[in-house]
Amino acid sequence: MSQEVSSRSTWSNRWAFILVTIGSAVGLGNIWKFSYIAGASEGSVGVFVVVYLACVALIGLPLLMAEILIGRRGRGNPVAAMLNTAEESGNSSWWALLGWAGIFGALMILSFYSVVSGWMVDYFWQYLAKGVQVNTPEETKAAFDAMMADPWRLSFWHTIFMILTVGVVARGVVSGIEIANKIMIPMLFLILILLTLWGAAAGDMPTALRFMFNLKVEAIKAGVVIDGMGHAFFSLSLGMGAIMAYGSYLDKDTNIGNTCLWIAIVGALIGLLCGAAIFSLTFGYGLTPAAGPGLILQTLPLAFSDMPGGRIFAVFFFLLVIFAAWTSSISLLEPFVSWLTERFGIRRSFAAWGTALPVWLLGVAVCLSFNEWARFKILGRILFEMLDHLATRFMMPLSGLAIAIYVGWRLGKVIVLDEIRLKQRMFRLWFNVVRFIVPVGITMIFLYELVLRDWFK
Ligand code: PHE
Repeated sequence: MSQEVSSRSTWSNRWAFILVTIGSAVGLGNIWKFSYIAGASEGSVGVFVVVYLACVALIGLPLLMAEILIGRRGRGNPVAAMLNTAEESGNSSWWALLGWAGIFGALMILSFYSVVSGWMVDYFWQYLAKGVQVNTPEETKAAFDAMMADPWRLSFWHTIFMILTVGVVARGVVSGIEIANKIMIPMLFLILILLTLWGAAAGDMPTALRFMFNLKVEAIKAGVVIDGMGHAFFSLSLGMGAIMAYGSYLDKDTNIGNTCLWIAIVGALIGLLCGAAIFSLTFGYGLTPAAGPGLILQTLPLAFSDMPGGRIFAVFFFLLVIFAAWTSSISLLEPFVSWLTERFGIRRSFAAWGTALPVWLLGVAVCLSFNEWARFKILGRILFEMLDHLATRFMMPLSGLAIAIYVGWRLGKVIVLDEIRLKQRMFRLWFNVVRFIVPVGITMIFLYELVLRDWFK
């Protein structure tokens, strides 16, 4: 049975859609995660970066188009969109499971995403309110460890961030999500350009670039290849219903191909710029980048303390991170909220606050997993790491695989062509990539890491 969705909002125009999708894509992934995974794959950073960029181009971009296509064709939240398109193309309604996996996966990510965003709000507040002066690596580490050891403090900022997120989603698609992105994304660009230039001047850009693009294939560490792929998925918000939900508010006339090209290029570029700025400061001040998830909070404060105007730099830097994280977290909450409102006809604000509650609770458990509950491990990982690994390494690529199979092999060429409207040659190229390259690529990377390497280490 198809789910009728009566009056749906649509983005004001094509640029609004590009903006919100970039808002979803560019987030903690580009700033926090990119720098810490790259830092952690010391010796094979270049491999990670190249795998990431290759996956963005060969797997991410085609899948981005496929996901938007499903959302727009299905004209509904991820579950409804899957049901509607499955019905139209004569496929089993079991495909709706893919929508479910997406909306729950997104909430899972949101639970720890909000906690990490909370760290950023905490640091932002510290720099804004009183400034932070640290002189040795031990001091910054001790400051970071003190925050991580305090479940109240972590939960407090996590709560603030959840409220910020819900506040936007509750206001609606156009008057909430679109407006928030229209304000934050241009500011984010501006700050980023400013900080990159400043970072390049104050830091050591050549070493940073050498570090990021140093391709030593013989030094590949376990997990680097799958990390690169997982990161491409994470940083493009793929497979989690977010893009599908945003695509469902896209008008019929917008060209999906061009739009996605923009999103992928800008997304990857911002990722690289952030990485370059962060590593440039890291090396410029004689610090080492391998610090784990706390990397930017354990190294950058030293650089901020040292550089002229460092406090202002820090305030803007954390503002940038907060904008990036905020525009992503709203896209993590939206899929489930849109399902609730469309399925049960309940008020959006009610749906948004109601969804946020269990996610917030899981987030509090994540805060505790760093301290009080640190001894409880699942497969050797604390809850925080477990959620992240499960989502990034498993759920996102597997959902991506399923989307490729669905669009490439099940939906039927007529529907796909009608929705994607690429010129014939481009269409053939894209369609074959979705049918062959994407599934084979994802499967090969899985096999490579699963069979050839002890990747769960
Ligand atoms: N792309 C976001 C980031 O890089 C995270 C995200 C993942 C958002 C999945 C939505 C869906 O931070």
